[in-house]
Parts: sequence; structure tokens; C-alpha cells
Amino acid sequence: MAEFIAVTSKGMADVLADELVGLGLKVLKKGPAGVTFDSNWEGCYRANLELRTATRIIKPVLDFPAYKPDELYNNIMKHDFTKYLGLNDTFMIDASVRDSSFHDQRFVAMKIKDAIADQFREKYGERPNVDNKEPDVMFMVRIVKNQVSVSVDTTGDNLSHRGYRSEQGEAPLREHLAAGLVKMTGWECDTALVDPMCGSGTILIEAALMLKNITPGSLRKKFAFQKFADFKSDVWDRLVTEALDREQAVPNVHLYGYDRDSKVVRMARRNAERAGVDDLITFEQSGVDMLARPVEKGMMILNPPYGERLGVTEELKDSYKDLAYGLKKEFKGWTCWILSGNEDLTKALKLKSSRRIPLFNGAIECRFLEYKIN
Ligand SMILES: C[S@@+](CC[C@H](N)C(=O)[O-])C[C@H]1O[C@@H](n2cnc3c(N)ncnc32)[C@H](O)[C@@H]1O
Repeated sequence: MAEFIAVTSKGMADVLADELVGLGLKVLKKGPAGVTFDSNWEGCYRANLELRTATRIIKPVLDFPAYKPDELYNNIMKHDFTKYLGLNDTFMIDASVRDSSFHDQRFVAMKIKDAIADQFREKYGERPNVDNKEPDVMFMVRIVKNQVSVSVDTTGDNLSHRGYRSEQGEAPLREHLAAGLVKMTGWECDTALVDPMCGSGTILIEAALMLKNITPGSLRKKFAFQKFADFKSDVWDRLVTEALDREQAVPNVHLYGYDRDSKVVRMARRNAERAGVDDLITFEQSGVDMLARPVEKGMMILNPPYGERLGVTEELKDSYKDLAYGLKKEFKGWTCWILSGNEDLTKALKLKSSRRIPLFNGAIECRFLEYKIN
């Protein structure tokens, strides 16, 4: 067994830890934006294939203090990197530094790259090449208060890139975050969902993938670990087959997405088709001023514009007021969850939230707010 870290957005560690436990993996530690778990390689493959709320899975390989460039270089030289990297593989160093005597992450990346290259030259007389776009192996280096952590990335392209969202409107939610929101509401695939500001449809598409039990990784099938020297393709093939076998016929639940912009509504429909869930979602053009309940019972989840990236706050207040009016008039007995990145706008709703969950949408600090409509 070994330690792996599932990385996510800040505020999502609890929901990610629940997912890991659901996969039968042993959670060791929760951080603000990641969960450490104990597993063999099969568990790492499964985490990459099945987790909906993670962005990548990394495997820590080294941890040491360093205050000077030489200390950085020597510690990397001491560790055998030929275990993870072959001479014919390309590699990349993704470095970040915080509160340390090292200030320049490019310098750190270069120093570590040199140490790895020199280690290969000493052993083989040759070195692997660097590829900063599509490397075979990526090492993630985080230096916080001069403590250096080096991990090998097992994922490759971010897990939130499922492959279905080749079209998106403005300010789309990342897929792992949309999946996390759905999970945080406690929705159990048993009631209708409505997103009245659906944009490219991410929240509803992620919910529909859960409804059909479609494994998110099965939509893309390309991961960094597949290029590792000790990759067990038989184990991987079995996991993919098992995941495909678990996909299920759809229960009698339907999802509804609306947006006032007809262009994004068309995009949402095409995204749902690519994800294989268009039969479960009805997308229609409609503004929140026309909000009407499509079925008797259900839950609403939405990510309205915050004003930072879209539009002007004063103009947006009217949309929020329309939303509140529609909720009170049409959605009595429903629960509505709103991801808000702008408190002034949510105040315009004049509704009292029953829960407030802090989390980050990219760099924007948000609250995921629950409203019981009565
Ligand atoms: C932040 S985006 C939603 C992004 C979406 N969650 C996604 O992942 O693509 C907000 C959406 O609200 C829509 N919108 C803004 N005002 C609206 C209104 N009054 N009625 C309906 N939709 C509105 C915008 O067109 C935009 O697509």
C-alpha cells in the first residue's frame, strides 16, 4: 500500500472523502483542497476512473526541507527518479512556491529538472527530454515555508475535463465542482432537478451522469499512469469493463435546464448529447422572470452570474429579484441551492438561507446556500 492524494477545489474535501470511502478506499487525512488515501495501484486507477469531485490523483515521492538551491538539487539527486521515468519518456516539472526563501517557481522547476537530467546522465550517459505541454510524466513540486513536497502526477489532463463540454458559455462551472454541488445537496437521484440559469448545462449533465451511473473517466479513457513502466493494463481493462457494466437504465426522473440565452441552451443540448444523457434533460430558452415549475416535486440548483466576470451588479439585482419572486410563487415546498460569489446579490433575494457551505469557484470565494421555499 502507498499514499496517494486526491486533489480538488478548496472546500470540497468532505465530499471527495465521502466518494473515496464509497469506492472502498481508506482515507488517511483531509486537507483544505485534497484528501490523502492509502491504496495500491488498482485503487489509484479506480480513483482516476470513478471520482467525480477530484481534479487529479498524485503520488507523493519526496518531502524535505530546503533553504538553498544546492539543498534542492542534492535532495533530488539522492532520490532515484529512474523509477518513474524512462529515458525515452518526456517529463515536466509543475512548481509552486509560497512563504519560502525561493521566490521564483520557474527557477525551482529548472533546478529540479537539472537534477533529474544529471541523475540520468550519470547513470545512462543520456537524459530524457522535457515537454511542457503533453509530457509522459509530470512531477508536481510544492514548496511551502521551505518544505519541499515532490509528487508524481498519475492523471495527466485534469479530471474535470470529462470530454463532453467542447462548447461552453461564459463563466462555466468546472465539471468536478458541478458534481460536488450536486452531491452536497444530498440529492439521491430520486427527484427532478431544475437549473434556471443553466449556461452550458454542467450541473444537470453531471447529475444525469450520476443518474445513469456513467463513470466520468469512461468518457475520456486517457490517463498519465497508462504510460508508467509498471502499468497493469489487465487490471485497468477489468476496471473499465466493470464500470461500463454498472451503467444502468434510467429511473423515472427528469432534469430541466433554462437560460435566457438561446445560444448557450443549444450548446447545453449538444454537451448533453456528447455525454450520452440528452434523453434525461430538457433544455429550453427562458428567463427567470418566466420561471414555472415543470413538475410537482423536485430540487433547484443554480450558479447565477456573480457580477465579477459577467455583467454589472446593479443590472443583475433585477434577475435575482425575479428569481426570488418565481421561487415564492411557483416552487413552494422545494429546496433551492444557489452557488453565490456575491453577497450583495444574494441579499437582493430577501430569502433566509438554512445552510451556508463555504467553497471556492476558481479564485472566487463562494457560499453554497440552501433555501427552503415555503
Ligand atoms: C454563471 S453562468 C452559469 C454557468 C453554468 N453553470 C455552466 O456551467 O455553464 C450564468 C448563466 O445565467 C444566465 N442568465 C443570466 N441572467 C438570466 C436570467 N435573468 N434568466 C435566465 N438566465 C439568465 C446567463 O445567460 C448564464 O448562462
